[in-house]
Amino acid sequence: MGVPLFATSLAEHMPRITERLAEVAASGRYILGPEVEAFEGELAARLGARHCVGVANGTDALAIGLRALGVGPGDEVVVPSFTFYATAEAAAAIGARPVFCDIDPGTFCVTAETVERAFTPRTRAIVPVHLFGNVAPVEDLRGLGVPILEDAAQATGATLGARHAGTLGDAAALSFFPSKNLGGLGDGGAVVTDDDEVAERARLLRSHGSHDKQTYTAVGYNSRLDALQAAALRVLLPELEGWNERRRAVADAYAAHGLGEHAALPEPTPAAEHVYHLYVVRHPRPDELASRLAEHGIEARSYYRVPVHRQPAMAPYLSADGPPNLPGTDEAAATNLALPMGPELSAGEVEEVVAACASGST
Ligand SMILES: Cc1ncc(COP(=O)(O)O)c(C=O)c1O
Repeated sequence: MGVPLFATSLAEHMPRITERLAEVAASGRYILGPEVEAFEGELAARLGARHCVGVANGTDALAIGLRALGVGPGDEVVVPSFTFYATAEAAAAIGARPVFCDIDPGTFCVTAETVERAFTPRTRAIVPVHLFGNVAPVEDLRGLGVPILEDAAQATGATLGARHAGTLGDAAALSFFPSKNLGGLGDGGAVVTDDDEVAERARLLRSHGSHDKQTYTAVGYNSRLDALQAAALRVLLPELEGWNERRRAVADAYAAHGLGEHAALPEPTPAAEHVYHLYVVRHPRPDELASRLAEHGIEARSYYRVPVHRQPAMAPYLSADGPPNLPGTDEAAATNLALPMGPELSAGEVEEVVAACASGST
C-alpha cells in the first residue's frame, strides 16, 4: 500500500468520539457552552497557560490574537516568509502590514538576528512560527520590545526548556486542522495567553465584539470553536503527549538508521523538544529524491516552494525596493522535503524510507 506522508489514525478513538458527539448533539448546546469551556480549561492546563479561547480555525486565532495584542491598521508585523501563507495573511487581513524576515534554514525558524533586520520604527508585533513542530527561540526575541504572538499551529505539545510552545510569548495561535498534532474532525483553533486582558479581548472579538449580544464594542468576528469539535478534541487531548513521543521516536529512528548520510536532518532549536508535525530534511535535489521515493511507493512532499514574500497577493506589502533578500528562506524553499512521519509509522517503514533514500544516492 506504500508509506503515507502523514502516518496518523483516529480509528482507535472513533467509538469514544462518536459517543461524545452524540451526547453533544442530544444536548442542544452547539455554540460555546460547557463542552467548549471544558476543552479550553483542559488545554490551558496541559500547556500551563492561564487562558485558552477557542476559535473557528488557526488563521482566525492569528488575526484575533494580533488584534487582542493591540495591533491594528498600518502597524507592521514581522513574520517569517518560510511558513504557511496564513501567518502573513492574518496580519494583512486586520489591516496591518506583514514585513518578511528570514529564517535559519537548519531549524526552519526565525532568530533574533533575522527578526531584528526586519524591524522599523513602525514594528508593533512579531509572529515567530514554530515550523514543522520545532520551537522558535522566542526568549531571544523578548529584548526587541514589541508584543510576540507565537504561531504554534504546527507545534501543539512542543516545549522549549520547561515551557510549552504557546506560552513563551504574549499570546499564541493554535490550529486543530485535522493533520495537526492535535487535529479535530474539521477546522478549529485557539488563542492561548497568560494575560487576562488579552484573553478578554479575544473572547469579545470571537463573538462579534459583544459579551451580551446587546452592546457591540468592537467590529469582531463570528469565530467560535464548535461544541462538537471541542467534544472530539477532549477525547484526543490526552493522547497528544504519547503521539508526540512516538513522533520523536520515529525521528530518532531515522537518524539511527543513517538517514543523515543521504540528507541534512532537521535541527531542533537548542533546549527544544521538537514534535515533528512534519519530518523535513534538506537535499540538494529534493525532486529527484521525491521521485526515487515515489518509485518505492513512499510519499514525500516539498513545502512552501514559493515562499510567502514571493506570493502575488503579498506584492503590495513589499517595500518599493522589491522583495527582501532572504537567503535562508530561499535555501529552505529550494531544498526541503518532508518524509513520512506520524505516531503510526512502523520501524519497518522507517527502514524502508531510509533504504529508498540510500538507493542510487550520490
Ligand atoms: C504555520 C501555520 N499557521 C497558521 C495555520 C492556519 O491554521 P488553520 O488551517 O487552522 O486556519 C496553519 C495551518 O494550516 C499553519 O501551518
